[in-house]
Amino acid sequence: MELHDCAFPTLEKVSYTDSLTEGFKDCDYAFLVGSKPRGPGMERGDLLKDNGAIFVDVGKAMNDNASRDCKTIVIGNPANTNCLICAAHAPDSPKENFSAMTRLDHNRALAQLALKTGTNVEAIHKMAIWGNHSPTMFPDIKSTTIGGTAARDLIDNKWEVDDFIPTVQQRGAAIIEARKLSSAASAGSAGLDHMHDWHFGTDDWVSMAITSDGNPYGIEEGLMFSFPVTVKDGKWKIVEGLDISDEFSQDRIKTTTDELVGEREFVEHLM
Ligand code: LMR
Repeated sequence: MELHDCAFPTLEKVSYTDSLTEGFKDCDYAFLVGSKPRGPGMERGDLLKDNGAIFVDVGKAMNDNASRDCKTIVIGNPANTNCLICAAHAPDSPKENFSAMTRLDHNRALAQLALKTGTNVEAIHKMAIWGNHSPTMFPDIKSTTIGGTAARDLIDNKWEVDDFIPTVQQRGAAIIEARKLSSAASAGSAGLDHMHDWHFGTDDWVSMAITSDGNPYGIEEGLMFSFPVTVKDGKWKIVEGLDISDEFSQDRIKTTTDELVGEREFVEHLM
């Protein structure tokens, strides 16, 4: 009813079903939001056991029913590893079509910088989120500009390290604490941003968790890992040539990579 009430000009028909076969039949764009949400005090790892199994059946159903080009975003947590499981069970679809959402983290980072500097989010470019959609993610503003000026010239290092990074990393938990429920409106909006930009393309960087296979930064392969990307003609491309060799970046990228490797080991039996 509410979908109709939004009067979306592109909404032709609403179908609902609990059959995975029917639900994914010829699907071109899939938003995988279904999973048990995180409650107060829980980390995403706590959800792996319950949610991982859902994505085995979803992956198989997608493999057998969805369009071969179906663009898929996993939103249910732990999103990166759920996405890995899903893609593993849809071997007939290109891995590049599977992604997990770190656009929410990207948007949170933009918003925190805009609030701090009294600017509009539209003035901020070249934001990057690396790694897992979890408190280990690395919001990286090394290349970020605000109104054409390097972000690091406008904010001090102490705020970046002690305030900005932890705030973005812990924002999901802060929202849960505040509303006793996981984020909803901001997560929905970020999901739409993600799919909109994947379809229409981008000028600026956006962050997407995608396959790490063949990534240009030597990050462990076989993960779903968030990178800064640009999108053209429906295909994402990891932003290349960024200098992440400094100790600060390397430490953070290692921490989030290690977490994803640990999650992958934990769900090995589901792959
Ligand atoms: C969020 O980041 O708000 C959601 O992914 C909820 C969560 O579990 O952190």
